Amino acid sequence: MLIEQWLFNKTKKVESYLNEIVEVKNNPQKMLYESMNYSLLSGGKRLRPILMIGAYEIFDNNIEKVMPFACAMEMIHTYSLIHDDLPAMDDDDYRRGRLSNHKMFNEATAILAGDALLNKAFEVALETIEKYDLDVKRAAKALSVIGKSSGTEGMIGGQIVDINGKFNNIDELKYMYSLKTGAIIKSSVVAGAILGGAKEEEIFFLEKYAELLGLAFQIEDDILDIIGTQEKLGKPIGSDVANEKITYLSFIDIEEAKKHVQQYTDEAIDNLNIFAGKGIYLSELAKYLTNRDH
Ligand code: IPE
Ligand code: IPE
Ligand code: MG
Ligand code: MG
Ligand code: MG
Repeated sequence: MLIEQWLFNKTKKVESYLNEIVEVKNNPQKMLYESMNYSLLSGGKRLRPILMIGAYEIFDNNIEKVMPFACAMEMIHTYSLIHDDLPAMDDDDYRRGRLSNHKMFNEATAILAGDALLNKAFEVALETIEKYDLDVKRAAKALSVIGKSSGTEGMIGGQIVDINGKFNNIDELKYMYSLKTGAIIKSSVVAGAILGGAKEEEIFFLEKYAELLGLAFQIEDDILDIIGTQEKLGKPIGSDVANEKITYLSFIDIEEAKKHVQQYTDEAIDNLNIFAGKGIYLSELAKYLTNRDH
């Protein structure tokens, strides 16, 4: 199967599951549900849930069991985007091809919708343990990995380091990337592997794959902020320049940065060797991302 077809199938599956989770309720919180739905169901590449499913599939074909966790990860990611776009942060008016949450609703609602999506992520995953009779130890470990990667030692930690914006060299910047972007990309892969029953050594290699992929992914995001189009990206270009952000391109020119994306992607893929043919989709996905325009 071509990677495009595989991605299409997985995206469809993730989206139909997400559709079921946050149905709008006709109660006094209605606007909150609408705001959560607005951002969650507005497209996006669904990279993190797809990575989780892809890692799980190496070990187990019954992907129904990983779906709630994969969707939980997309909820955490979507919350991070809603907050990232707020005036206090990147102040971006468009996301995923439509007005950002705070522009469509208002800032208070956007803050609360983000908070609620974060909470809902853990509600949904925890509810599944009993419903699908999951291995409790694996589920607890996966949730612990997901929780840590989203917090102070992960995405939120990276966002504060990013906002403080002091980077003396590219290694300091790469450290921030490993947190703000890399952490939940890594935990998506690792949680998928844990839930699928991977052994320590297998998790080790998947972790390395995801670390390198996350780095390549954020460098490409920086590149697209300059050479992409709002039409394709669904978010404004030039946001980093407008915010006077230090990015990868503050240290290295675009051509060189593209080479780094390729190099980190190749290294990421090397870590899939132990899985032989079973690593093919994660490997193709990494290649696909290097050429993305969105
Ligand atoms: C955007 O993530 C934030 C970054 C970490 C660069 P994505 O590029 O995965 O955004 P969506 O989910 O496709 O909208
Ligand atoms: C955001 O990084 C990473 C998050 C944790 C949301 P960016 O600020 O570069 O992401 P975009 O470019 O707005 O999607
Ligand atoms: Mg940001
Ligand atoms: Mg941003
Ligand atoms: Mg960016």
